[in-house]
Amino acid sequence: MLKILEMKAAIIKKFGTSDVFEITDMVIPKPKNNQLLVRVFATSINPIDWKQRKGNHRFILGSPFPIVLGYDVCAEVVELGSEITKFKPKDIVFGVLDNKYGGALAEYALGTENCFALAPRNIRFEDAAAFPMVALTALQALRDKAKLKPEMVVLINGASGGVGHIAVQMAKMMGAKVIAVSSSRNQAFVESLQPDQFIDYTQQDILKIKEKVDVFFDVSGIYSFVKCKHLLNPGGVYINTLPRPKILFHKILQVFTHGKKVKTLLMKHNNDDISQIGQWVSEGKLRVEIDEIFNLNNISAAHKYAEAGHNKGKNVVIIN
Ligand SMILES: NC(=O)c1ccc[n+]([C@@H]2O[C@H](COP(=O)([O-])OP(=O)(O)OC[C@H]3O[C@@H](n4cnc5c(N)ncnc54)[C@H](OP(=O)(O)O)[C@@H]3O)[C@@H](O)[C@H]2O)c1
Repeated sequence: MLKILEMKAAIIKKFGTSDVFEITDMVIPKPKNNQLLVRVFATSINPIDWKQRKGNHRFILGSPFPIVLGYDVCAEVVELGSEITKFKPKDIVFGVLDNKYGGALAEYALGTENCFALAPRNIRFEDAAAFPMVALTALQALRDKAKLKPEMVVLINGASGGVGHIAVQMAKMMGAKVIAVSSSRNQAFVESLQPDQFIDYTQQDILKIKEKVDVFFDVSGIYSFVKCKHLLNPGGVYINTLPRPKILFHKILQVFTHGKKVKTLLMKHNNDDISQIGQWVSEGKLRVEIDEIFNLNNISAAHKYAEAGHNKGKNVVIIN
């Protein structure tokens, strides 16, 4: 039998606008001892993908062109490194790749065992590919940073986007009272997730609301601890997902704010967490909203659309 050695991939040879992608053939990578080679069915776009395409992280990650972007995958296991024990060939997995720049915009990709869990069997591959990064982010923010408990009040700013729409559902599952914030354009969608209260940020300045909250999850990163701390109950937590230089100053400031805290969430790979997400999805407790579906050939359009920053849920790219 003829062994396939090449794969189709969307690569970038320089940082830039959504037009920098080229579709090309590449050699299929070989897994190291601690890696799996997977055949990618679908990936989804996260803001980190278009930020990296623009070169925002080049001082940390370098410029190892040609770069294959993309972290989220739903894929089939093809080949195992010698140290892999949790998976076998033909398993259908989902997860977040842990290579520098990801690598999901290709027919085959590599990741270590900690990236993956078995994909829920009751959903489409494109839905499974839409969950991993946003669901891990929402879970780790609400459970680990906010330490969310029943009856606590959590405000989710950016509730219509990838992270936000999953965070609304998880916070409800955890028994919290949820105030969801988005634009009027996405109001019906966000209300379908059944938050306790909806605020349209185009109509109301959320910094002037009367309610006090235990957790302010600033998913869209518009505000800061300084701007929001008056909305927090004593001991309340402000969480953002964008590390900023000012965070050190805010950490010092929190000492003088009645135990109010500022925390930054950086998603961690954890296959127990991704398994937990898969279980909730299988049980019908968590759903993902797909806004647009693209394929590898129109990856530039997909990035352009996602970069506009007003998607309803997630945008998916079908690979195989
Ligand atoms: N640190 C980490 O590990 C980590 C992990 C995942 C994501 N992130 C970051 O988290 C952020 C959100 O990610 P995402 O996947 O949810 O992005 P997304 O899907 O693009 O969603 C962004 C949402 O922000 C909302 N928005 C835009 N302007 C707003 C405003 N002025 N006020 C309130 N909401 C506004 C939009 O809602 P409307 O259309 O209704 O305006 C949109 O739905 C990104 O910056 C991403 O890089 C960080």
